Amino acid sequence: MGLGPLWLGNRRRLVVYAGIFILIIGTLHVIRGTHVVTDDILATPYLVGGEVHQEDPCASLGGLEDIFVIVRTGSNEVRQKLPPLLNTTLPCFRQYGIWSDLEEEFAGHHIANALDEIDSSLLEQHSDFEYYRHLQEQGKNTLSSEDAANWADAPNTGFGRDTPAWKLDKWKFLPVAKKAYQQNSTSKWYVFIECDTYVLWSSVLAWLSGIDASRPYYIGRQMNIGDAVFAYGGGGIFISNPAMEKLVERYTAESATYNELTINQWAGDFILSRAMLDVGIEVTPAWPTLEGERPAALDMNSRSTQGHNLGCYNAATYHHMTPDDIYAYYDFDIRWNLAKHGLPRHGDIFRQMVWPQMQDWMPNWDNLSPDVQSENATYAECKEICENQADCLQFSLTARTCKTSRGAKLGKQQLPADQSKERIDSGWVLNRVEAMMKDVEASCNKEGWIMP
Ligand SMILES: *[C@@H]1O[C@H](CO)[C@@H](O)[C@H](O)[C@H]1NC(C)=O
Ligand SMILES: *[C@@H]1O[C@H](CO)[C@@H](O)[C@H](O)[C@H]1NC(C)=O
Ligand SMILES: *[C@@H]1O[C@H](CO)[C@@H](O)[C@H](O)[C@H]1NC(C)=O
Repeated sequence: MGLGPLWLGNRRRLVVYAGIFILIIGTLHVIRGTHVVTDDILATPYLVGGEVHQEDPCASLGGLEDIFVIVRTGSNEVRQKLPPLLNTTLPCFRQYGIWSDLEEEFAGHHIANALDEIDSSLLEQHSDFEYYRHLQEQGKNTLSSEDAANWADAPNTGFGRDTPAWKLDKWKFLPVAKKAYQQNSTSKWYVFIECDTYVLWSSVLAWLSGIDASRPYYIGRQMNIGDAVFAYGGGGIFISNPAMEKLVERYTAESATYNELTINQWAGDFILSRAMLDVGIEVTPAWPTLEGERPAALDMNSRSTQGHNLGCYNAATYHHMTPDDIYAYYDFDIRWNLAKHGLPRHGDIFRQMVWPQMQDWMPNWDNLSPDVQSENATYAECKEICENQADCLQFSLTARTCKTSRGAKLGKQQLPADQSKERIDSGWVLNRVEAMMKDVEASCNKEGWIMP
C-alpha cells in the first residue's frame, strides 16, 4: 500500500534515522558509564567518519515478498505508536495493510477501516460500537479532553481493558483477516501484529523458511482461557495461506455466528482461535520463539523458572514494546546482523540490551522482585539481605519494605507520579547476574526454534 514513489525515499530515511538513533544510544552509553559488556555489539562501528553506512536495512530480509503483514491498530494510538513501525521495517514489505477503527491518511500511509463491513445493525446499535459511531461522525479530534482521558489506551494486559477502543479491538480480527486475504490471496504467510509488537524479521524469515506454508498452520504464542488454547495477538500470529483461505471462507459464510461470539467474548485473538478450530485447525504453540512480553519483563534465570532455558531459544517477537524500545531494538537488530553473529537468542538480547542497564542502585525503578524479606529495612540492609542469600540476584525497597528475587528481571521505571505511590528503588547483585548469564549460555544445547 502506498509504496510507489515513496518507497526508496522511505528506505533512505530509514538509514538516516537508524544512524541518528545509533548516535544517541551511543552517547547515552558513554554518559551513563554503566559496566562494560564484554562482547559489545553496540560498539560495532555503524557510523564511519560521520557517514552513515548506506546498507539497505531491507536488503537482508530475504523472503519478505512471501509475507503479508497485518497491522491492527486504533485511531487513539496511531500518532504515538505507528511511527516506529513506519520508520523501521514495515515499509520493507511489498504486501501489508494497516487497519484501524477510522479510515485516515497518516504520514503518507493509508490506514483502512477494519470494521466497516460488519453487520450494519450492530454498527448502528450495539453498545460496543458507541465509540466507533462517534469516531465516524465526529472524527477523532472532536473528543472532549475528559472523553479522551476516559478513552485513552489501557495497559495491554489482563482482563481489565474496558476502554471503548479496547471493546472495538476484538471486533477487528476476523474482518482484517478477510480484508487482507481479499487484498492478496496468494501470500504464503499472513502475519498479524500490533504497533507495540517488535518483530525480529530476519529471524522470522529464517524460521518460516523451515515451515511448509502449503500446509494449514495457525502459529502463535500460546495463551489459555480456561482449557482453550489460542494464539496471543501481541506476540504475532502466523497463518499460512491454506489456513487463511479456510478461515476467511468460514467467516464469510458464518459471520453472524462469529458476531454473536464476539459480543460475548473479551479477546479477539481468542475468537480467531475459535474460528480456526471450526475449520479443524489447532493452534501451533510457539513460545518461546514468540514472546508476549518485553525483554525487560522476562526472567532469564532458568533455575527460577522451572528449568525452561528461555535464554537458549532464538527470539522472533516481543510485545509491549515502547516506541523507544522499538527504535533501540531495531538498531540492535541491524548491528547484530552486520556482525554476523547468527540469529539472536533471548539470552543474547538479554546480554546486549537488558544486562547493560542493570546497576547496583537504580532509584525510582521497580525490578519486580516478589519475595518480601523485611518490612523495616534501609536500602543498604536490603542489599545485605540479598547478598546473604546465595541464590538472590536482585532486590527492591519500597518505603521500608525489602523484596528479593532469585530471578533476573530489569523491570520498569516507576516515577512517584502521585503521592499514593511510594518511591521504589532497585538493585542487582551484578556479579551473580553475570555468572547466571554465563551458566545459561553454557547450558544451551540446540534449542533454536520451536518448530511445528
Ligand atoms: C518517524 O516517523 C514520523 C512520521 O512517520 C516522523 O514524523 C518522525 O519524526 C519519525 N521519528 C523518528 C525518530 O525518526
Ligand atoms: C500477492 O503477493 C505476491 C507475492 O507473495 C505477488 O507476487 C502478487 O503480485 C501479489 N498480488 C497482488 C494482487 O498484489
Ligand atoms: C525499624 O528499625 C529501626 C532501626 O533499625 C527501629 O528504630 C524502629 O523502631 C523499627 N520500626 C519498626 C516499626 O519496627
